[in-house]
Amino acid sequence: MLDALNELESKGLAELTSAGDAAAVEAWRLSYLGNSGKLKAMMGGLKDVPKEQKPAVGARLNTLKTTLEEALAAKKASVGTAAPAAASEIDLTEPGIVQSAGVGRRHIITRVRDELVEVFARMGFDVADGPELEDDEHNFVKLNIPDGHPARDPIDNFYVDDPRTTPKPRMVRSQTSTVQVRVMEAAVKAGGGRLNRPIKIVAPGRVYRPDTVDATHSFMFHQIEGLYLDRGVSMVDLKTTLLQFAKAYFGEQAEVRLRPSFFPFTEPSAEVDMKVRLRPEQPWRWMELGGCGMVDPAVLTACGIDPEEWTGFAFGFGIERLAMGKYGIPDIRLLFENDVRFLRMV
Ligand code: DAH
Repeated sequence: MLDALNELESKGLAELTSAGDAAAVEAWRLSYLGNSGKLKAMMGGLKDVPKEQKPAVGARLNTLKTTLEEALAAKKASVGTAAPAAASEIDLTEPGIVQSAGVGRRHIITRVRDELVEVFARMGFDVADGPELEDDEHNFVKLNIPDGHPARDPIDNFYVDDPRTTPKPRMVRSQTSTVQVRVMEAAVKAGGGRLNRPIKIVAPGRVYRPDTVDATHSFMFHQIEGLYLDRGVSMVDLKTTLLQFAKAYFGEQAEVRLRPSFFPFTEPSAEVDMKVRLRPEQPWRWMELGGCGMVDPAVLTACGIDPEEWTGFAFGFGIERLAMGKYGIPDIRLLFENDVRFLRMV
């Protein structure tokens, strides 16, 4: 029995020495010191030892137990201190592991909206906001679009109230030009009944029209509206602002073209085209972005502003158009279907 104990001791200590990590040490502990381990088995054999040998074998069992336990404690400590030593070998210059799958990002329209706001903010424009649920007063009347104007046809608008029977019928706005009216009214109110400071804002937001959905139309899309009112603002300021915007957004070689047009709320009015190139290898081409012009005196008067003192320009662009033009997106429906394969690409 004593021989067996000596052998257990030398074998055990040798195995513990070669245990390389915490898991191996734990396996060793179970094998030697665990409840069904080798030491317990030996202790169980004590009852078969002849009576006169029992004290010596018992004492040997105790010292063996202490030896193995102390060796285990020492080993645990050394395995524990091995970790920091290994940590110093971590190469901090190694590239990290890119967590691309499953990480969300902002929608392309949100990103483009923020890019546009950022560019205009650098030119001194504040950001304004207005409700999507509007009334015809802000969507039409104050924008110089009187009763009976074809743009007010219920076929072309989402009315909430029946426009034939309701005064000031509510509707979801068909254009962000409503925000021009809201901002001018608020500024006049803040000035105690008259405008006493310039206005320079952009207003991005959703608009709604009952259009049949196809590659270039949607019943809901986004516009960004601009309004600059000051003393002595002219068409030159308008064109300069649009040109600066085009260069900042599409690149230094971008150009702007104004084509005479008509909008009830501006006089003169123009359609805005920008010369853009999607990718360096592609040719430059003209893209139609929206409308602009000098704010019609009738609009200023409707909002309580003296057109003899203040002049200004306004513009309204489609954000989807800008996004599709800049990022080469061929179909507007891709922007709203939210197919993750598309969303990951742009
Ligand atoms: N509101 C016009 C539309 O939706 C776009 C527009 C044209 C806005 C001329 C303007 C403007 O501010 O001056 O078609």
